[in-house]
Amino acid sequence: MLRARAVVENLKEYHPPLGRREGLRLDFNENVGGCSPRVLRVLASISTEVLNKYPEREVGELAVAEYLGVAIDRLLLTNGVDEAIHLLCETYLEPGDEALIVVPTFSLYEIYALATGAKVVNVQTGDDFAFPTRRVLRAITPATKLIMLATPNNPTGAVAARADLLAIAAAAPHAALLVDEAYWDFHGETLIDQIGAVPNLFIARTFSKAFGLAGFRVGVLIGDEAQMKMVRRVGSPYNVNGVALACLTEALQDREFITSYVTQVREGRTRLEQFYGQRSIPFWPSRANFVLAYFGSYRKPLVEEMRRRGILVRDRNSDPGCAGCVRITVGTRPQTDRLLRELSEAFAAVGFQPQPRPVESSSTQPATPTAPGSQVAAGAGEVRR
Ligand SMILES: Cc1ncc(COP(=O)(O)O)c(C=O)c1O
Repeated sequence: MLRARAVVENLKEYHPPLGRREGLRLDFNENVGGCSPRVLRVLASISTEVLNKYPEREVGELAVAEYLGVAIDRLLLTNGVDEAIHLLCETYLEPGDEALIVVPTFSLYEIYALATGAKVVNVQTGDDFAFPTRRVLRAITPATKLIMLATPNNPTGAVAARADLLAIAAAAPHAALLVDEAYWDFHGETLIDQIGAVPNLFIARTFSKAFGLAGFRVGVLIGDEAQMKMVRRVGSPYNVNGVALACLTEALQDREFITSYVTQVREGRTRLEQFYGQRSIPFWPSRANFVLAYFGSYRKPLVEEMRRRGILVRDRNSDPGCAGCVRITVGTRPQTDRLLRELSEAFAAVGFQPQPRPVESSSTQPATPTAPGSQVAAGAGEVRR
């Protein structure tokens, strides 16, 4: 009988949302305001040639290289940051190696790393979800071959300091360090200027968030040119589709769209944080386009009540250290107006009373490995986006 590799048979099933997401989708950190109208115009005029020929990635790479101020041989367009993560795992991890991640975080780090047969070492953040620099440094071993960190992190919105990330890169010269800047547009700090100077550093950016192009599946991986040569070897030359490539230049040029959207998100983020603060609801200050808050035993009824009101929010209860937590994406100004109005009404409808968050022992736990062949730590069959 045909059998998949043991590590694959033991991986939790990956169930991305394939439907039933009607309403205001504040659950997946997408740009819920749409995308640049200029992209829609290009899309409407796509020629048959764009469809019948294999896509030419280099044209898009030149445009993105110019946009980011990075040399083209240091950059690879990918099928979303998802693929960038996958390629790094394929390039640097062998069975028995260690991949180091800080949890809670984006679930695909763990899934793609485990699928290679590597062991995943989880460094749990403390109760404040602050980036645990010292614990990450302590968890590095000679077997660490890949370290994957998101800043701002998902689902917490917390950021890692530049100096700390550079210290980690320096402490693990034998490991690739991925700094996932998927939410960079809402934060503004980057390590992109260190590419080349730090030979084991990689940065990932996406067009799925601020640009509103999650459906196109375009991300970019940036790294030292010698390393990028290796990464390109494991990928498909046609990984980014021609329609997305045809629209990318226009998306990059419409700075007004991005500036306006990012401004609205930042304002909305402050309003949501103030809303929580005024009601004594524990929340974690965020630098991304979402805010994580603690609703304790009211979490489930609140998520359901919001769904009844046509707003999807994200239950993060099963993420490590996130019991009782809900993450809400921030969108445009009118969407935030609606969100805050509906949240107030939902609180009244479920009789919500803010609860202090119990201090968990997570901050004192040692780094915990998820060995290949064991189950992924995420909630059953759930993908953490
Ligand atoms: C931290 C982080 N990295 C990467 C991604 C995936 O990005 P993409 O849509 O480019 O695959 C997400 C999506 O939610 C994310 O939260």
